[in-house]
Amino acid sequence: MKSERVNEVRAQYEAYPYPERDPEDERKRLVTGSPSHVLEIDHFVFQGARDWSHPLRVLVAGGGTGDGLIQVAQQMKAAGRAAEITYLDLSSAARKVAEARARVRGLDGIRFVTGSLMEAADLGEFDYIDCCGVLHHLPDPAAGFAALLAALAPGGGMGFMVYAPYGRSGVYPLQEAFGALFEGQPPEVRLRAARKLVAALPEGHPFRCNPNLGDHKDSDAGFYDLLLHSQDRAFDVAALIEMLEATGWALSGFAMPALYDLGRITEVPDHLGPVARMALAEKLVGTIKTHVGYAVRGTEARGPAKGTKPGLVPHLKGVRAADLARAVAEGRRPVLRMDGLEARPDLPRAAAPLIAGVDGRRSLAEIGRRAGIDAIALGALWAPVERELGAHGLLLYSNILRQG
Ligand SMILES: C[S@@+](CC[C@H](N)C(=O)[O-])C[C@H]1O[C@@H](n2cnc3c(N)ncnc32)[C@H](O)[C@@H]1O
Repeated sequence: MKSERVNEVRAQYEAYPYPERDPEDERKRLVTGSPSHVLEIDHFVFQGARDWSHPLRVLVAGGGTGDGLIQVAQQMKAAGRAAEITYLDLSSAARKVAEARARVRGLDGIRFVTGSLMEAADLGEFDYIDCCGVLHHLPDPAAGFAALLAALAPGGGMGFMVYAPYGRSGVYPLQEAFGALFEGQPPEVRLRAARKLVAALPEGHPFRCNPNLGDHKDSDAGFYDLLLHSQDRAFDVAALIEMLEATGWALSGFAMPALYDLGRITEVPDHLGPVARMALAEKLVGTIKTHVGYAVRGTEARGPAKGTKPGLVPHLKGVRAADLARAVAEGRRPVLRMDGLEARPDLPRAAAPLIAGVDGRRSLAEIGRRAGIDAIALGALWAPVERELGAHGLLLYSNILRQG
């Protein structure tokens, strides 16, 4: 039964490599995102202090058509840092697209492997494993988490994305119905028939009412992946953390911590533990469709970087330091937008010169000195900057751009 399921999953991704990508587009743009942005890797896995003089050994497990692979390879090359990257996927059609994208960009030296992540450890030991959108498609996700841990080098970590239930409301009844209706049919026939039925869904159907879902509108591969998958389960945050812990992992952090922060939504009763708080936040937010975050070996549990170490180098991601510093200096609360979420951080005016000093190269101590702010005032002024921007994934620590 399990091997039948794996064959069905492989057949899907041979017919519809995911996501649909044209290698020629690599000449025009780089697809970036979470997980596996290099700054996030350093921040969440290496506490912002990786020694980049050693090559980063990366496994992209279930790499699909290559979004995560190309991002990490391109960003490492742009930073002038060495990487040994292995791409692994069941689908040879997906691999062809990923290879072509790497070729267009001149990213050579990537090892491409067609195979299962269940045998990841046979490929070597990795400092960083990307596994985005894959573990929820395995017949036995726990075995997948464990197989990836077996390939993790000491001190390393994994960036993951798994589906979450509430933001995907309406998807699972359709997947179940289509799975039963089209049993035994080839992928193209399923796609045609399902498209017809989806176009005719009645008003008020939970899928039609869900504005968070768009994959089915983007491409055939997107439609298939969302609604015709033969193997797909969502994890609520409590189930995800339980799965991580049961398989030897520990959560380092979510890429967008604010989404899981109950205290940002309501007063938090004392009796709730940390996981229960996140679980309630997920229910109250209601729109989370994927959990994106980083995990490390359970016996080496640690969280993301913290600016309590003045040698760390802060970066602003997706925000221009000069613009934000100007707004803060003028006492404004600018609207910052990321992934459908908005934040209006309330930051102290006196922090403006610190924000202005963030350039991805200066350490916190250097930023403080440049602004004429002593170490104690620096700590007090920087704390709300880190809290507010960090909560929205906009502040990350990494020394990847420092010389040496
Ligand atoms: C939804 S796609 C995600 C692709 C890519 N990681 C991304 O985020 O764009 C899932 C990929 O996982 C691959 N896959 C599924 N099960 C796998 C397994 N056991 N071993 C390796 N790859 C697998 C599929 O072939 C497919 O390319």
